[in-house]
Amino acid sequence: VPSCCSPESRSGTSINHSQAVLQHLQELLRQGNASNVVLWVQAVGTGEVRVFHTHCLLLGLHSELFRELLSNQSEAVLQEPRDCAAVFDKFVRYLYCGELTVLLTQAIPLHRLATKYDVASLQRGVAHYMRAHLAGGAGPAVGWYHYAVGTGDEALRESCLQFLACNLSAVAASAEWGAVSPELLWQLLQRSNLVLQDELELFRALEAWLGLARPPPAVTERSLLCISYTERLLIAYQFHAASPLAFLPRNYLAPAWGAPWVINNPARNDRSTSFQTQPGPSGHDAGRRVTWNVLFSPRLLPVSLRPVYADTAGTVLPAARPEDGRPRLVVTPASSGGDAAGVSFQKTVLVGARQQGRVLVRHAYSFHQSSEEAGDFLAHADLQRRNSEYLVENALHLHLIVKPVYHTLIRTPK
Ligand SMILES: *[C@@H]1O[C@H](CO)[C@@H](O)[C@H](O)[C@H]1NC(C)=O
Ligand SMILES: *[C@@H]1O[C@H](CO)[C@@H](O)[C@H](O)[C@H]1NC(C)=O
Ligand SMILES: *[C@@H]1O[C@H](CO)[C@@H](O)[C@H](O)[C@H]1NC(C)=O
Ligand SMILES: *[C@@H]1O[C@H](CO)[C@@H](O)[C@H](O)[C@H]1NC(C)=O
Repeated sequence: VPSCCSPESRSGTSINHSQAVLQHLQELLRQGNASNVVLWVQAVGTGEVRVFHTHCLLLGLHSELFRELLSNQSEAVLQEPRDCAAVFDKFVRYLYCGELTVLLTQAIPLHRLATKYDVASLQRGVAHYMRAHLAGGAGPAVGWYHYAVGTGDEALRESCLQFLACNLSAVAASAEWGAVSPELLWQLLQRSNLVLQDELELFRALEAWLGLARPPPAVTERSLLCISYTERLLIAYQFHAASPLAFLPRNYLAPAWGAPWVINNPARNDRSTSFQTQPGPSGHDAGRRVTWNVLFSPRLLPVSLRPVYADTAGTVLPAARPEDGRPRLVVTPASSGGDAAGVSFQKTVLVGARQQGRVLVRHAYSFHQSSEEAGDFLAHADLQRRNSEYLVENALHLHLIVKPVYHTLIRTPK
């Protein structure tokens, strides 16, 4: 290829020493060369002061607040909580180099600093990190929930709540359970998407919480009100009382309400199984069972059906829709035991994932008969990929739950 025509001569060759520039900036911060601003960072409640020889221009690049603060002074005393003071070096380094590494315990103090000094990019970065690491080692979801409430970060608060509700059994058995605030407990109790063995497990978890949290009398009283509130719902539910509340049972894992189903190599072919559930929660139903047949279909499109828009003759073929290739799960009653007057059966499918030795719920889907009603059933699971996050050792871990739903709009004549 003549050199005048090679791609290089048209687009130029990149000389890229950006890594070295970052190193220089880091050195500048470490050695304080030509520094024009000194930051005195005081850890509140301690005599500790850390000194940073910095550069007004660089601090101001990311933060309007620093630009204003330092416009007419060459030093500033900053009072920070102890945990924030401890990560201030990382924070300043981010301002210089645009990167840092976060540990679970550093997320809150870093987010706090980013918020205080108005560094929006770091704020977003840490919030994203937190939403992605809710299941992390020391179980940070409870602490992060409280932090999100305090700062009004609605997206983070909702992520934490969703995580805690779906993984409640694991959380209630962990050390962080005692750190749950009465407000969070109340939020959790009101949700029908809690995943639990049965209602008894929730009562035990509440008992444990009272023992761990040792709340003052006023709070104990309020949390006891939560318990009796739950009890009242349970009683109303058990006796089918014509409750004005559209009360939906929670996701109980106990055998009376559903069954686990492990599907090995789910991408391979269609599978079916059956299981039994108790038709309702009252004592009258305790000995009765409804049998359900389940069909799982990975529905991977054969090559011949993959989207083709025109054949060689120019005839337009019907294009396959993307949802045609999506997995499907159908649950039907084996006999006439299905929906009856005043009650229908909602199916909930929990999809498990193993993380740090615990099997946690990755996703919950609800529908009446077919997962197609849920729309996004396993939409992102990519079952053909061996390391799909939805597979545990190449198996799909499902738990099928059938919930009787009583229609409250039906009035019983007096
Ligand atoms: C320069 O190199 C760094 C890695 O050393 C890379 O991250 C960056 O994208 C490169 N920049 C360009 C413009 O190629
Ligand atoms: C910073 O100053 C030290 C000496 O105090 C010098 O050795 C070093 O090269 C300087 N670094 C830069 C980036 O100017
Ligand atoms: C710097 O300016 C701000 C107002 O812009 C003022 O409040 C502050 O006292 C000034 N600080 C010094 C050291 O002059
Ligand atoms: C429950 O935990 C799993 C595994 O850590 C996680 O992937 C999932 O998102 C959690 N559930 C919810 C609803 O957040």
